[in-house]
Amino acid sequence: MSDLVAVIIPAGGSGERLGAKIPKALVQLGGKTLVEHAVANMAPVANQIIVAAPAGYEAQFQDLLGSEVLVITGGLTRTFSVKKALAHVEKENEFILVHDAARALASTALALRVIDSLRAGERAVIPGIAVSDTIKRVDDDNYVTKTLTRSKLRAVQTPQGFTRKLLIKAHTSPDDVTDDAGLVEDRGVDVKVIVGEERAMKITTMHDLAIAERMVIPNITNEMRVGIGTDAHAFSENPARSLWLGGLFWPSEIGVDGHSDGDVAAHAICDALFAAAALGDLGSNFGTSDPKYAGASGAQLLAETLQRVAAAGYAINNVSVQIVGNRPKIAARRAEAIFALSQSLGGAPVSVSATTTDGLGFTGQGLGLSAIATALLLRNAG
Ligand code: CTP
Ligand code: MG
Repeated sequence: MSDLVAVIIPAGGSGERLGAKIPKALVQLGGKTLVEHAVANMAPVANQIIVAAPAGYEAQFQDLLGSEVLVITGGLTRTFSVKKALAHVEKENEFILVHDAARALASTALALRVIDSLRAGERAVIPGIAVSDTIKRVDDDNYVTKTLTRSKLRAVQTPQGFTRKLLIKAHTSPDDVTDDAGLVEDRGVDVKVIVGEERAMKITTMHDLAIAERMVIPNITNEMRVGIGTDAHAFSENPARSLWLGGLFWPSEIGVDGHSDGDVAAHAICDALFAAAALGDLGSNFGTSDPKYAGASGAQLLAETLQRVAAAGYAINNVSVQIVGNRPKIAARRAEAIFALSQSLGGAPVSVSATTTDGLGFTGQGLGLSAIATALLLRNAG
């Protein structure tokens, strides 16, 4: 059969600009990793899917994506990741789409429009959208050398579609490029720009991730439910007890006593989520006597809570937690804590604040830590 499509998904980057401690493609967004979103959106049009994973993560990617997807080791640059994947494309595929895992939400419909254009006879097709900023070219000293005509500019996206033979030829070039169409242009081949979509935005920074999060909240009704939760634990007399707080391990701090890891921020958030969904509280769900949860991490409890809240028909709009105590100082690790908590909650927006209590109460006297959380849930339709 002609017209079969192979989809190459370069996912071998580390996501430096996102600043996560894990490869960007493994970051959670709405309960799934970015690479899972990308594969799910492309699968309906693909006869073959090849994902280039960061070295060392191949098995984890294969587990996530299943045996239908060919996972290979990525290269040192995106261009090399694509080159390596190209070597695995089966010859029966007339067309190849190259699609960044970082554009996780690009739709199946967009991929279909790229393919339609290839079927109509184009050899290279890329989605693009008009730019809203005026774009200027500058020299090495940052003086403007040219103002480009905005109406003639397009910000281009993926999936980019090519005939197989053309893309393989173009990739014999040694050039390192940020998109594959660039290599095709260099050969003098016409590259057609079709209308892209906002959902195909590239997730590069935490700000991008927050925008993408708004896009994946499914079918929301306007029914909102708020919940509150608090937790407190005393600092341990055992100096070897580890401190877990806000989803993070705090070396050189003494931990708190408790049935689980004692992460008061995570526990307060769980309670707020259960309260908002009217599903009881931490104790009634996880039971302090259930050995399954002895030593459970805050991350595990948050993930389990998310599952129960989602099963009851809710999506998280946002969660806010305030940590109360003299130490540790939260500010320096706030961004890290926000990321850790958010990842345990499937990528939901989280904010973290902290306060001391002017020497008053058990927190002021340095006897322990507490946290207060609120959660806002949105009810899913249907
Ligand atoms: N990519 C890849 N192999 C590399 C580098 C990048 O397959 N050696 C992939 C990324 O995983 C991503 C896509 O190319 O899906 C676009 O790259 P980018 O958004 O820049 O991702 P990262 O390189 O991971 O991010 P950063 O540049 O911030 O480190
Ligand atoms: Mg990069």
